[in-house]
Amino acid sequence: MPHRPYIVGNWKMNGTRAMLAEARAIDRAAGRYPDVQIGLAPPFTLVHTIASEAQAIGTGGQDCHTEAKGAHTGDVAAAMLADAGADFVILGHSERRRDHGESDALVKAKAEAALGSGLGIIVCVGETLEQRDAGQAEAVVQAQVAASLPSAAMAEEAGMARVAVAYEPVWAIGTGRVAAVEDVVAMHQAIRQTLVDWSADLGEKVRILYGGSVNADNARDLLAADGVGGALVGGASLTAESFLAIVAAA
Ligand code: G3P
Repeated sequence: MPHRPYIVGNWKMNGTRAMLAEARAIDRAAGRYPDVQIGLAPPFTLVHTIASEAQAIGTGGQDCHTEAKGAHTGDVAAAMLADAGADFVILGHSERRRDHGESDALVKAKAEAALGSGLGIIVCVGETLEQRDAGQAEAVVQAQVAASLPSAAMAEEAGMARVAVAYEPVWAIGTGRVAAVEDVVAMHQAIRQTLVDWSADLGEKVRILYGGSVNADNARDLLAADGVGGALVGGASLTAESFLAIVAAA
């Protein structure tokens, strides 16, 4: 792979200040893995504390608004995340697409706002079980990638290090059911094709992460799979012990 593997923990709606101890332990241990890029996306309430303490890991948000400020109660602007010390933001997670009806076009607008604020982005895509069973998985995911990514010009200006795509099959999230390695490889190839059509400059280089029930036992095989540039980890990122076991596998 052109970069170090990128292992990102997505804490979702988990984490009070009591969990700062886990983030600190992850950060302390991260220095032992200089060949792995590590990110942690806690809930908004913990971003500033983790970002201000972290020495070796990046800190991310799990969403941002398209606008820089204004009358949007409950929302957080990309510029606010950057101001809180965040390095990146996860966008278009299937839970946001499901819970908040986020469309590809909205995800794209958020991605452009995030790049414009200097953040890195991890744009999530993935098919449902019905779509996979209907043989539509690749077409659905390729269409999501094409419509959810920021403009190629903006991404090219930001550079490949600030753009990543996460393939998270919806049926593999939080279910303990992991996609077969050959299916992951095939999907990562399909995504790569779409990325190359999107940007001749970045398409070959942007990292594609896998997410969906990644744990210490399956991480080695998934991360060794052709085209897999890292992992986006939910449940197994909630303790330093289980997250660091995945980092070690990378
Ligand atoms: O963003 C990470 C994700 O959705 C996977 O969650 O709990 O299956 O690792 P989990």
